[in-house]
Amino acid sequence: MARVRTVHRCQECGAVEPKWSGRCPECEAWNSLVEEVERPAVAGRDESLDEGAGGPVPIREVDGASFAPVATAVGELDRVLHGGLVPGSVTLLGGEPGIGKSTLLLQALTGLAQRGQRCLYVTAEESAQQVRRRAERLGVLPDGLWLVAETSLPRILAHADSLGPTVLAVDSIQTVFDPALSAAPGSVSQVRECAHRLVRASKERAMSTVLVGHVTKDGGLAGPRVLEHLVDTVLSFEGERHHALRLLRALKHRFGSTDELGLFEMTGAGLDGVPDPSALFLADRRPGIAGSVVAPVLDGHRPLLVEVQALVAKSHIPTPRRSAQGLDSGRLALVLAVLESRVGARFHEADVHTVVAGGVKVTEPGADLALALALTSALAGRALPEGLVACGEIGLGGELRQVHQTARRLGEAARLGFRTAIVPASAPATAPGIEVRRAATLAEAVALADLLATDGTVIDVDVVPTPVVRPELHVIG
Ligand code: TYD
Ligand code: MG
Repeated sequence: MARVRTVHRCQECGAVEPKWSGRCPECEAWNSLVEEVERPAVAGRDESLDEGAGGPVPIREVDGASFAPVATAVGELDRVLHGGLVPGSVTLLGGEPGIGKSTLLLQALTGLAQRGQRCLYVTAEESAQQVRRRAERLGVLPDGLWLVAETSLPRILAHADSLGPTVLAVDSIQTVFDPALSAAPGSVSQVRECAHRLVRASKERAMSTVLVGHVTKDGGLAGPRVLEHLVDTVLSFEGERHHALRLLRALKHRFGSTDELGLFEMTGAGLDGVPDPSALFLADRRPGIAGSVVAPVLDGHRPLLVEVQALVAKSHIPTPRRSAQGLDSGRLALVLAVLESRVGARFHEADVHTVVAGGVKVTEPGADLALALALTSALAGRALPEGLVACGEIGLGGELRQVHQTARRLGEAARLGFRTAIVPASAPATAPGIEVRRAATLAEAVALADLLATDGTVIDVDVVPTPVVRPELHVIG
């Protein structure tokens, strides 16, 4: 067999180089060269016509029924996929190692097999025994779910030919390789070539394919964006390793919007859907604590109530510490600056720690106001009134700006028993069951939240130094 040659193509300008280098010699983009297989042009033959998907058809006569999604019975996954897996589609499930991709995949295949789909699970990382043991742990060994431990692409395709599955899953695409290519397994050219052939096989057989992909530290899937444009759907499975919460999002979806968010909890018996995340996030909340504010935020279409916490303590170092967990540190710096210059709250001698409880990440500006109130409350050592939520974006002038879908956010807050909301003056909507208090500026919001001293200034306990308890040292022996 002829040796396959590889070249390096710039992902920015398309220039082809025989050797890798850190910078594209053509467009001077950094780190844009990606190794790929060189395809010699075959004279006199147009491959695209050979594949024979048929000629042009009037749009009304195109068969739309075959695009009906097949439900996986994993509710939160079906929510993100808008119904399930579309026959002939290719889905890439990406996430960090250990996050639960194989578990989610196995649960989805189990659900599909129980609904009469013929599923082939190609395990290229674990043995078939390990997968079986996991399936036992999840409690079901359905008929119609077939397992094979295989890493060679031609053999995987041969297995798919002989079994004829309606759903093929490959776990993971980085461990699959084509022996005809000289590149090492896991290299960009191997991964891309194997994915490309699996995509073709999937379209030819109208078989849904799920590829599992490990995400590198910087968030890319096996090199920058090599697979994302090949597949129909890119799912990202995220979560903090030390939290049970897992979030599933679609980064790309050819059969629906990418706005849905799926939430799971990792339990001893697999992943459980979380139909009521707000209740979960607020379950451990202790009311009456200074520095805690509940914010109704929006993730895609899904309203979530999260607790924003702040702790302010006297700093013992020249450059006080600022930490933001689950929040954007740039946003924290901005909110602190606005509080100092527009409201008169002083944080410059204090260490500031902020957290979104429960392991969620809040990146939208709708949580600004809650963050500002949590910081002020922590500085004043004074808790906010019970049953209060706050949402709004903060401008550099100290003004409050409305955020989209305020009514949905407030509706979710009312459902969970919150009775008062502080919102920007311009916020258009209200929701039944919740009293809306409007503030045009951050200073007004601080006053509404009852965080001002009687003389109208921000209560500033001047970051009282907390007594330091020195542990006694005992000499043993
Ligand atoms: P896994 O699906 O193997 O992750 P990935 O394929 O993304 O690498 O699962 C990873 C972790 O999930 C593993 O550390 C064990 C844990 N786990 C549970 O807590 N409960 C379960 O029922 C299962 C199957 C796994
Ligand atoms: Mg795995």
